[in-house]
Amino acid sequence: MCGIVGYVGDQEAVPILLDGLRRLEYRGYDSAGVAVLHEGTIEVRRSVGKLINLEKALADRAIHGRTGIGHTRWATHGKPSEQNAHPHRSDGCVLVHNGIIENYVALKQELQRDGHHFQSETDTEVVAHLIGRHMKRGANLVEAMRAATREIRGSYAIAALCEREPQTLVAARSGCPLVIGQCAGATLVASDVMAMLAHTRDVTYLEEGDVALMTPSQVSITDAAGAPVRRTVTRVSWDAAAAEKAGYAHFMLKEIYEQPQAIRDTMRGRYTFDTGEADLPDIGLTDEQFAQIGRIWIVACGTSWHAGLVGKYLIEEMVRTPVLVDIGSEFRYRNPLVEKDDLFVTISQSGETADTLAAAREAKQRGARVVSIVNVVGSTLARESDGVLYTHCGPEIGVASTKAFTAQLAALYLLALHLARVRGVLNANDGRVWLERFVALPSLVEQILKRDGEIQAIAKRYYEKRNFLYLGRGINYPIALEGALKLKEISYIHAEGYAAGEMKHGPIALIDQDMPVVVLAPRDRLYEKTVSNLMEVKARNAPVIALVSEGERDLGNVADAVFTIPEVPALLTPILFTVALQLLAYHIAVLRGTDLDQPRNLAKSVTVE
Ligand code: G6P
Repeated sequence: MCGIVGYVGDQEAVPILLDGLRRLEYRGYDSAGVAVLHEGTIEVRRSVGKLINLEKALADRAIHGRTGIGHTRWATHGKPSEQNAHPHRSDGCVLVHNGIIENYVALKQELQRDGHHFQSETDTEVVAHLIGRHMKRGANLVEAMRAATREIRGSYAIAALCEREPQTLVAARSGCPLVIGQCAGATLVASDVMAMLAHTRDVTYLEEGDVALMTPSQVSITDAAGAPVRRTVTRVSWDAAAAEKAGYAHFMLKEIYEQPQAIRDTMRGRYTFDTGEADLPDIGLTDEQFAQIGRIWIVACGTSWHAGLVGKYLIEEMVRTPVLVDIGSEFRYRNPLVEKDDLFVTISQSGETADTLAAAREAKQRGARVVSIVNVVGSTLARESDGVLYTHCGPEIGVASTKAFTAQLAALYLLALHLARVRGVLNANDGRVWLERFVALPSLVEQILKRDGEIQAIAKRYYEKRNFLYLGRGINYPIALEGALKLKEISYIHAEGYAAGEMKHGPIALIDQDMPVVVLAPRDRLYEKTVSNLMEVKARNAPVIALVSEGERDLGNVADAVFTIPEVPALLTPILFTVALQLLAYHIAVLRGTDLDQPRNLAKSVTVE
């Protein structure tokens, strides 16, 4: 959600800002802008649409300076337009913002009564005016920022500069991420590390309420009241090359193909064959504490929520402990019945999703232990949890999540194994057998990827349809939801995921020859029931795309298209089905010609409610 980058140093700022914005564009892409300070004057360029438009505007009318800020926007208040694009300015200062200023209406009215004129419909512009007013009254930029943060309510990450203080940037954070990095001769600030990996991998994450003052050689951080605070430096293991397409047509395709490695990296060093155990040293709970857990909650949003639903089937089956799964935005507002001996698991690729973060805080306040499955090292969720299980899948750039999801599933398998062993539900021998099947998964994913052409051929037959239904049962019901979500996110085709047994209670009314039905039918104890559902679909003339276990013949005669997955125990089928469904959605979107790495209206990281 909105990308921010700031630079103060000895180089021309604009190329560095544009490079940073390019790497952050997945956060929002409806408009973009930069501002630089040159010989005491601020110059701003802004454009509607993708970053390329801003680059063209800058090529037409270049601006120069060694201190600057940039922004790529995902609109909340005010439609995407040049006037609403950031940076916003007032009284010799200029700023960019990610988040929502909730009391902006009252502040705007008060500022207008005080003679301030507004150029945009945004909530952000009030902050520029507040800072401008404090500076007019004698404050310097950092004092003005601190004063403004005491007046605004809501969530924000802000970076600002002003004409009176050359070679200075100021930033503030509450509710939205900001990270600072230093390299020889320069300091950078950004919404996430992707924007600065070309310059440094040693970064400092700001905490809630922090205000930072930056020059090319120094960074000083205080709390909102002005008291100095110390923040540690984190070394990021990703490098800039990990965020390139590396010859693939799209980031999404590259990330689909990275899944065998992402799953391997998530498994690596986290199990011991001899004892049949998972080794999770950073999990934050002792074996004794794990043994005493009453119930387990899993809370997440979007695709990560689907991983949570798989986690429920998995943990309840393997650990025989009740699991409650919830969506972050639902959980946080309904006075949830979390108990002190509950384990609270959150799942998030970014570690910054506002609703997931709020849910974790709520659970912590109620005394539960919070363990998070997170991809971004050092993210807010990772820092605020009692324990972390990192998915080591590298940066995920495609807005539609792929490798992060299957890596989350791999992490959940490890968590389930750990719980099952420490709670005495699974003995060492069964743990070993289970591990053998589990570690074979990445090479089975490779086998599916090699058969991409089969899925492409299916996509060619159905890409012009306007509605799809996805059916699954048990642990593959959430995979039906995820398959449908992938399709709608990137191809804009209406798709619904449904529990196969529930189809007769409504969606069957929609079925006709124009609605392909994707059925997930592994050979498990529910197989025959799923086949019955498929026959009901067929009887209503719907084209059926069946995903089945290898060697399955019954469905070949009934379904219009069949894709087989390698035979694995039922609990391990979700990752294999997922990869096939990701490829199906990808090829359909390519055939429809959508902008599938940056689908309309979506943002990768939802840092506002
Ligand atoms: C956005 C993204 C999804 C993602 C969801 C949760 O909606 O577009 O791909 O699943 O946020 O994000 P998180 O970072 O918490 O996993």
